[in-house]
Amino acid sequence: MAILLPGGAGYIGSHTAVELLNAGKEIVIVDNFSNSKPEVLDKIKQITGKDFKFYELDYLNGQALEKVFEENQIEAVINFAGFKAVGESVKKPIEYYTNNIAGALTVLDIMRRYNCKKFIFSSSATVYGEPERIPLTEECKTGGTTNPYGTTKLFIEQILKDIYQSDNEWDICILRYFNPVGSHESGLIGEEPQGIPNNLMPYIVRVANGQLKELSVFGNDYDTPDGTGVRDYIHVVDLAKGHLKALEKIDKEGTGLYIYNLGTGTGYSVLDMVKAFEKATGKNVPYKIVERRAGDIATCYAETKKAKEELGWTAEKTLEDMCRDSWNYITK
Ligand code: UD1
Repeated sequence: MAILLPGGAGYIGSHTAVELLNAGKEIVIVDNFSNSKPEVLDKIKQITGKDFKFYELDYLNGQALEKVFEENQIEAVINFAGFKAVGESVKKPIEYYTNNIAGALTVLDIMRRYNCKKFIFSSSATVYGEPERIPLTEECKTGGTTNPYGTTKLFIEQILKDIYQSDNEWDICILRYFNPVGSHESGLIGEEPQGIPNNLMPYIVRVANGQLKELSVFGNDYDTPDGTGVRDYIHVVDLAKGHLKALEKIDKEGTGLYIYNLGTGTGYSVLDMVKAFEKATGKNVPYKIVERRAGDIATCYAETKKAKEELGWTAEKTLEDMCRDSWNYITK
């Protein structure tokens, strides 16, 4: 019995693949390398000393994906195969809705036909829109997403709720990621944004190594301690381990639909991040304050109690680990 990882060569997928293999699980990865590289597969093998099956295919191709179910005994699917760039999603809504939503539906339809009903979904704190309250609990209202990427996450959550409603033999876990950063401590796998990064940590790293001149801090007039945006940054290895706990949960409990925040529960500002990065790496990160970025919110961090109590999971890595490992990957 194997766990299928569509998008398993990507940033979060590859780190989760490592944790699953380390825990002795059998995995099958499918990926079309639209936002990842084939070398990642060898790196996963190098880190874990374990082998796995891989299929190069687009998960929208139902026929090809069905073959994977024919040739393997898939017991659960963890779906990482989503497009995730906010700005790009505004320019290419059709591509985003097709890839993320039609892709998820393609997988879910095949799963149903093969009577495989355990599904873990990579959602995002973005589904909370403007936070109803801080820290965000899983019960906070969702909606009001400001871009097609966020809306795909919101819609897929709804689709999953409807699927469970129609057939409660499904076992579904929705994981709402906060801000994943860092990389595996080996420095062999990590985040590889194409072009100029939009997210804070990849940008800081590229300023520190001289690839980019300076960081633009988007606004210092938010209602936060230093005026810059506050987020819940979580080490990607902690996040990956959260998927293992989610898998354990849906393996051992009866069936159900569960939703968990995966964050640390602590918020750091943009300037906190710059200082922490400089301290952890000894590098300089020049920055300037510019206008707010459209669609940004002041503060976003998780209430982590539910994941702790029900999954037995808490993030363990420190901000220093996140900064050091982000740097380690790019300098390797
Ligand atoms: C963004 C997405 C979110 C997505 C997440 C993936 C938006 C509005 N939200 O979250 O949907 O799930 O990425 O990780 O884009 N910042 C700067 N300068 C920069 C880059 C960022 O000051 O060059 C600031 C931002 O204003 C924000 C913080 O850093 O306060 C974090 O930004 P970012 O890494 O882009 O993440 P989010 O906006 O939280």
